[in-house]
Amino acid sequence: MNAPDAERLVLGIETSCDETAAAVVRGGRTVLSNVIASQHDLHSEYRGVVPEIASRAHAERVLPVVRRALADGGVALRDVRAVAVGNRPGLIGSLLVGVGAAKGLAWALGVPVIGVDHVQAHLVAGCIGPAGAEPGPVRWPALGLVVSGGHTSMYVCDSSTRAARIGATIDDAVGEAYDKVATILGLPFPGGPELDRLAQTGRAHRPGFPLARIAPDSLDFSFSGLKTAALYTFRGVPESPQARARREARGEPEHGPTMNAADVAATFQEAAVSAVVLKVQRALDRRPDCRVLLVGGGVSANSLLRQRLLAIGEARGVEVRLPRMEYCLDNAAMVAALGHAILAERNWRGDEWSMTASPSTAFCAGPAGAGAP
Ligand code: KG4
Ligand code: ZN
Repeated sequence: MNAPDAERLVLGIETSCDETAAAVVRGGRTVLSNVIASQHDLHSEYRGVVPEIASRAHAERVLPVVRRALADGGVALRDVRAVAVGNRPGLIGSLLVGVGAAKGLAWALGVPVIGVDHVQAHLVAGCIGPAGAEPGPVRWPALGLVVSGGHTSMYVCDSSTRAARIGATIDDAVGEAYDKVATILGLPFPGGPELDRLAQTGRAHRPGFPLARIAPDSLDFSFSGLKTAALYTFRGVPESPQARARREARGEPEHGPTMNAADVAATFQEAAVSAVVLKVQRALDRRPDCRVLLVGGGVSANSLLRQRLLAIGEARGVEVRLPRMEYCLDNAAMVAALGHAILAERNWRGDEWSMTASPSTAFCAGPAGAGAP
């Protein structure tokens, strides 16, 4: 237990939704291995994640995935100095599988176990890399943006463990909107990446789908209206029999579909990305002391979002930390990295053995630092 912080190996475990993942990270930033077993094939026929199926698959896969992560990293189990696990938020049955595995391993090894917040872990995804390609230290404070299937929020971060939320979605998360529009367009599950690909073959119509106007200075997001706009343009505007009769009496034509799938995808993508970018610009205007933008979550893999955020960074002289593709989606490397940072702050004192899973996040629900452990 006497290795310096920069040498300590943390095993990360992530089972919050439908990826079973394990990783070994050295010194909180060097990723020695990053194994992700996706369950997409198990859930695709239901077009969404089925919690019961997910938990069972995690139970079958978690230890083989851990073993693979140790082997890939060339690490012996006895060299692991702590075990970090995503224990909130997520599907409770899924989270409990990871928590049980993490506690069992930590107990057997006599090392600390730490439960970390999955949303917070996405914020450190741009601060890790394989040996020799680790990003440098962050200049704090930084603006943080999490864009995933369950969350869309912005934070002002004073360190990788301390943050204050400054904006969040008031309805759907941006990834959720991607997945729902993909379903409308008949794309395979999970739809976000498919929609991103289709959008590149389409033409974004002008003026495009309307962006939600919450309040002139708000940093909150809203994506549910874009979903409706996509539905109506692709399938046509639904009509009651009375409305149809009135329209026919006026001799007006039916409001049928007005765009093909590729153009809907491109128009939706343009609107969704513009909505995120608008709020990021507004937050950077408000917090000129933030010279770094940390980005994380599955939608940070989106081609247009990456391009637009990099352009903002370039124009403003702000360093944009986009995660490498393998750390955008749910992964355990970000969990291990955050676990390391929290443990280093606590002098490597882990959680109590009674630590358990929670379906919700308390990360930054209140004032500055409120969600930080
Ligand atoms: O972070 P993540 O793996 O899981 C959550 O914590 O929610 O994010 C998954 C989300 C899904 O909604 C998925 O469709 C979306 O990220 N996603 C994308 C892309 N790749 C993944 N959305 C848009 N464009 C992409 N390229
Ligand atoms: Zn996630």
